[in-house]
Amino acid sequence: MSIGIHDISAATGSLVFPLADLADHQGIDVGKYHRGIGQTEMSLTTEDEDIVTMAARAVAPIIERHGTDGIRTIVFATESGVDQSKSAGVFLHGVLGLPNNVRVVELKEACYSATAALQFALGIVARRPGERVLVIASDVARYELESSGEATQGAAAVAMLVSEDPSVLEIEPVSGLWTDDVMDFWRPNDRSTALVDGRYSVQVYLEALEGAWNDYREGGGADYSTISRVCYHQPFTRMAAKAQQRLDRIATDGSAPEVDRLDGTTQYNARIGNSYTASIYLAFLSLLDNGPDLAGERIGFFSYGSGAVGEFFAGTLVSGYKEQLRAGHLDGMLEERRLIGYEDYRLRHIAFDRVGDFATADESTGDVRFAGVTEHKRLYERR
Ligand code: CAA
Repeated sequence: MSIGIHDISAATGSLVFPLADLADHQGIDVGKYHRGIGQTEMSLTTEDEDIVTMAARAVAPIIERHGTDGIRTIVFATESGVDQSKSAGVFLHGVLGLPNNVRVVELKEACYSATAALQFALGIVARRPGERVLVIASDVARYELESSGEATQGAAAVAMLVSEDPSVLEIEPVSGLWTDDVMDFWRPNDRSTALVDGRYSVQVYLEALEGAWNDYREGGGADYSTISRVCYHQPFTRMAAKAQQRLDRIATDGSAPEVDRLDGTTQYNARIGNSYTASIYLAFLSLLDNGPDLAGERIGFFSYGSGAVGEFFAGTLVSGYKEQLRAGHLDGMLEERRLIGYEDYRLRHIAFDRVGDFATADESTGDVRFAGVTEHKRLYERR
């Protein structure tokens, strides 16, 4: 029996802020962002959007196509949870109107946890092959104004339906694992913006890649020559290029690579920015939508979450997967985003941390909106 990703869909915030405007404000050459970190713009959320509304928007086309029969588990991965106790997945379950007989949980480990969610989903389907699991990765990536990470903010959600006999990707059982207790990026409970030791985080990311790759090979993982593309966690797309260079060096005898294994994987991330848990699966969706037909080819995945956990695994694209895709769906959403300038961006950034009861302005474009907070309870409504 093969198990893997049967369907995948994504959504992003309704606003877009160009990094050229950030560079202008900072009085620096935009080349640092466009070429140096490989980012052109960042998605931002309106005040009536959050990880739940983006997740609802990402899931909608999947449910429209496949219905909800057999979905008895939702695993919601996020770094930017909206409640310290209640899973964002339960809010999502509510707005989707799913039946009561579903288990729902939220997972956390910085940008990595969607990969744990995917692995848990594979395990559930292996035990109960008729069941299907919804895996959600949804995040709003935020750093302080004027901090080193400011240009690497963003927002997006990816939803994946995991099942037996999948139509998109059959995932292989071998995984390479790596964990080390380090402080490269973290977010204490009293902060809505992350703290980061930027250069150190890049170094730890590459160490995690090397550790996870070595473990993958020792555990019987596929030879590098049989992997045609690699989807990386992309805090910024140049990070994936650095990772690819490192893997080319450690996984080969030093000869020049015959294929560019990043090809097709960076288009969405360059326009969305960091989306933490969603980022690696946006790289995969970018490859599916923008790359050539690679049916039958093996795709590698390197998932990284600061703190720090890394995992390398692989899967094979299923024959006919291109017909399952929604051509132009995410591109259309990217084009639809409302452009905002520096001052609007700055004011929204400052206004993000609202406390007490409030109602939000109706300004997002999805079917589900975050209406505000009443008596400490978050309210969501369908349009
Ligand atoms: N034209 C072209 N390139 C330029 C340039 C110009 N005018 N000016 C600078 N550059 C290049 C630099 O040479 C550099 O390239 P290299 O990395 O190849 O040396 C690149 O642009 C970036 O410049 P700096 O290193 O000077 O940039 P910085 O120190 O201000 O910021 C950063 C870089 C530390 C990564 C920062 O973006 C940051 O803190 N980001 C947040 C942390 C992060 O994303 N870490 C990634 C690993 S951790 C992770 O993956 C988890 C997660 O999601 C957070």
